[in-house]
Amino acid sequence: MKLARQAGLHRVRVPSFAKINLTLKVLGKRGDGYHELRTVLQTISLADAIDIEYTPSPRVEVSVECNLAIEDNIAARAARALLDELGLGARVHIRIQKRIPMGAGLGGGSSNAAAILLALPALAGKVVAPADLLRLAAALGSDVPFFLVGGTALALGRGEELYPFPEPATSYGLLLLPEIHVSTREAYAALSRNLTETDPSRIINDFQPLGWQIGEGFPVSTWRGFCQNDFEEVLFQRHPQLLALKEKLIRAGSPLALMTGSGSALFGFFHSPEQAKNTARLFPELRWVLFRTLGRERYRARWLKCLRAFAWENRWPPQSR
Ligand code: C5P
Repeated sequence: MKLARQAGLHRVRVPSFAKINLTLKVLGKRGDGYHELRTVLQTISLADAIDIEYTPSPRVEVSVECNLAIEDNIAARAARALLDELGLGARVHIRIQKRIPMGAGLGGGSSNAAAILLALPALAGKVVAPADLLRLAAALGSDVPFFLVGGTALALGRGEELYPFPEPATSYGLLLLPEIHVSTREAYAALSRNLTETDPSRIINDFQPLGWQIGEGFPVSTWRGFCQNDFEEVLFQRHPQLLALKEKLIRAGSPLALMTGSGSALFGFFHSPEQAKNTARLFPELRWVLFRTLGRERYRARWLKCLRAFAWENRWPPQSR
């Protein structure tokens, strides 16, 4: 019995990349309690590593092991939701090596959930239609659908309505990771108190030129005038040291430095990886990471390489052989 189960065991290691928000505007609070967003999301090279073991079984058993203590791991919820969708029993064991800090605005948990949604169908020998994957992803969290797409994408609604952008050239940057854990829910609540508009327009005029800039493939250095993060105001009020860090990145020559998501991580782009590395030396007291942007093609190529044994090459989302 044990041997038979072992024979059905499929295992794979997949990456789970982080995101940054190249711009993030919060229009206002909606009737459903969420906030209406206009944001541009970008996958970057920083990633967690996820090992997944899948064994067919009459019952659903999902377990998660992680180097950080996480209550109610979203990766486990993603696995259960997917097995439920497929009407499958299985034993799924997930091991997560976290490198993306939590509560930093880098989408680590959402990315882990999307990684499970992408990998499990291939391991199970099943195909899930993209629309169904998107639905499952959106039910797990507002940022989860983006990680099914990767690269550079415009996100509307609560962040789940996605429009992939053409790929800008690879850019290099420095990510600063202060020891400040931000609860997304609390950050939205604090921001809400500052929102004065009662009838926000769904169109933001200064947002459109950014779409053009990105669409035309202009380099990141030309984006500054169009990029902002509405959470900076509330987070910088609470933690003035974050504003000081952003200013230091700009003084070091970063053409675009911003906080990502609801904080607290900050990124600064630089003209070369060397400039980013030299700037990192100015922050000896902080945890930092050098990164490059990860375009959609590379994002998908990394994934399909990992799933080679289980999925058809060059089909997205990964489809079972
Ligand atoms: O969708 P997700 O579970 O990631 O969101 C976490 C919390 O952040 C929500 O419960 C909500 O309070 C807040 N949120 C919001 N508007 C959004 C996204 C998230 O108010 N567009």
